[in-house]
This record gives sequence, C-alpha cells and structure tokens, in this order.
Amino acid sequence: MADQQPKSFFNKVIWTVRNRPASIFSYGRQFVLFYSASLLRRLPGSSLPGVELGENVRLQKNSCLQADVPNATIRIGAHSVIYENAKIHALGKGRIELGEESILGDIRIACRYRVTIGKRFLSSWNVFIQDFDPHPLDPTLRGTQVSQMAQGMRPWFGRVPPRDTKLDPQVWNFPGADVSIGDDVWIGANATILKGARIGSGCIVAAGAVVLKGEYPDCSILGGNPAKLLKTLKQFTP
Ligand SMILES: CC(C)(COP(=O)(O)OP(=O)(O)OC[C@H]1O[C@@H](n2cnc3c(N)ncnc32)[C@H](O)[C@@H]1OP(=O)(O)O)[C@@H](O)C(=O)NCCC(=O)NCCS
Repeated sequence: MADQQPKSFFNKVIWTVRNRPASIFSYGRQFVLFYSASLLRRLPGSSLPGVELGENVRLQKNSCLQADVPNATIRIGAHSVIYENAKIHALGKGRIELGEESILGDIRIACRYRVTIGKRFLSSWNVFIQDFDPHPLDPTLRGTQVSQMAQGMRPWFGRVPPRDTKLDPQVWNFPGADVSIGDDVWIGANATILKGARIGSGCIVAAGAVVLKGEYPDCSILGGNPAKLLKTLKQFTP
C-alpha cells in the first residue's frame, strides 16, 4: 500500500516529510513547549503555592491547579498528565494526592477533606469528584448563603470594602468525607464521585455513573445512578 510507513529511520523521515509535513511542526512544538515549561518551573517564584509536582508532570492548556494556602495541598505523582481543561481545587484544609503515571482528563476535583487517587489513574471527559456538599440542605440557611455569595461577587470599583469576617458557621459549613480511589482505576465519561466513596484498585466506573458514599471492592465495574456493582473483573496475572 502506498500509505504504509517504511521501516528504516531514513525512509521514515522521507515518508513523514512527503506524507505528514504538519506532524513535524506539531512534534517540534510539543518538544519546545515541554522543555521550556520544565525550565520555567525551575525559576525562583515560578512554582504554584501549595502544589507539589513530581518529575515530568505535564500540564496541558487551560488546566488549573489551585490550593488555598497555607493549609490546602495538591500533590501530583511523577510522569502524570493533567489534560486540557482539568480543574483541580483544594479548598480550606483539603488535600489532593494523585499517584504516578496518571492521566487526569477533562476532570473537576473539588476537595475540602481528602481526595486520594492511586497510580495509573485514568479519567475521561466531564468527570466530577467532590468530597463535600458546598451548600446547606436547609432552605433558609441556603438562602442566606446564596445571598451572601451574590453580594460577595459584586464588582467594586475603587476602595475594596472590609470583608465580613464573622461568617455564620451554620451557613458556611461543608459536611463531607474523604474520597479514596485505588490504583489502576478508569473513570468513564460524565461520571460523578461524591463524598465518602472508597473505590478499590482495578475498578471501572461506567459512563454516567454517580458513585455515592460506600466501600466498593477491587476490580468492580460500577454503573448507574446511584452506582451499583455491574460486574466483577477477573484479575490479570501475567
Ligand atoms: C463500563 C464499560 C467499560 C462496561 O463495558 P462491558 O463490560 O462491555 O459492559 P456491557 O456492555 O457488556 O454491559 C454489562 C452490563 O453493564 C450495564 N452497563 C454498561 N455500561 C453501563 C453504564 N454506563 N451505565 C449503567 N449500566 C451500564 C449493561 O446494561 C449490562 O447490564 P446487563 O448485564 O444487566 O445487561 C462500558 O459500558 C463503559 O461505560 N465504558 C466507558 C466509556 C467511556 O466513558 N469512554 C470515554 C473514553 S475514556
């Protein structure tokens, strides 16, 4: 076949120049971006506060890692990829830990307690993990909170007004529980994982699942809303 790739290195180069010229620029751009980002991160003052990145972590465009200093922390394991549009927020005293060689896809993680994720984790598009409930269940308290939030979002031109430091703890209270995810877990598209979910190693969370608090054993396929055990996978032993 005319489009088949040749085997020798020299012929491969000729083939690529003739058949895929744009990929040469694309590879070049990736190398330049990767090494310039690694160099920039070594400059003093360029590290993200409260965020610890392992060796070779790749942050793609529009991704965001935000830790509320001084108490919140985010730790990303070596060789992981934070894919385009991933948003990782450790709030208050939240701690997020991701194991090495993981791929955080188009995910949003919001943490006030602890979110622990194992090695070689893979998340797909539009995945949401949150270990707390951000708004009160009681309608009156929620109304007060939303009203305060709406006021807090008002733009101020000129002198910034003093912030109301006496926030009512009944209103600004975030019930929650730690989330833990084992090694080698794959989370399908549009899945949601909520407070207190403890997902074992080797699990798959099916597309669209909503995983609530509970213990889910290793090598399970979880699906549905609320997520239930669909299947148990056989463990691969080489
Ligand atoms: C979880 C998944 C891998 C299971 O694949 P599978 O083992 O081939 O599953 P099957 O299609 O044989 O279905 C097995 C059972 O699970 C159920 N099931 C499968 N996917 C489900 C889902 N997303 N939600 C609820 N139930 C689901 C099926 O209804 C079936 O139930 P039944 O045995 O009572 O008929 C697949 O369904 C899935 O969700 N993949 C994720 C795809 C994705 O997110 N891609 C983005 C790219 S990373």
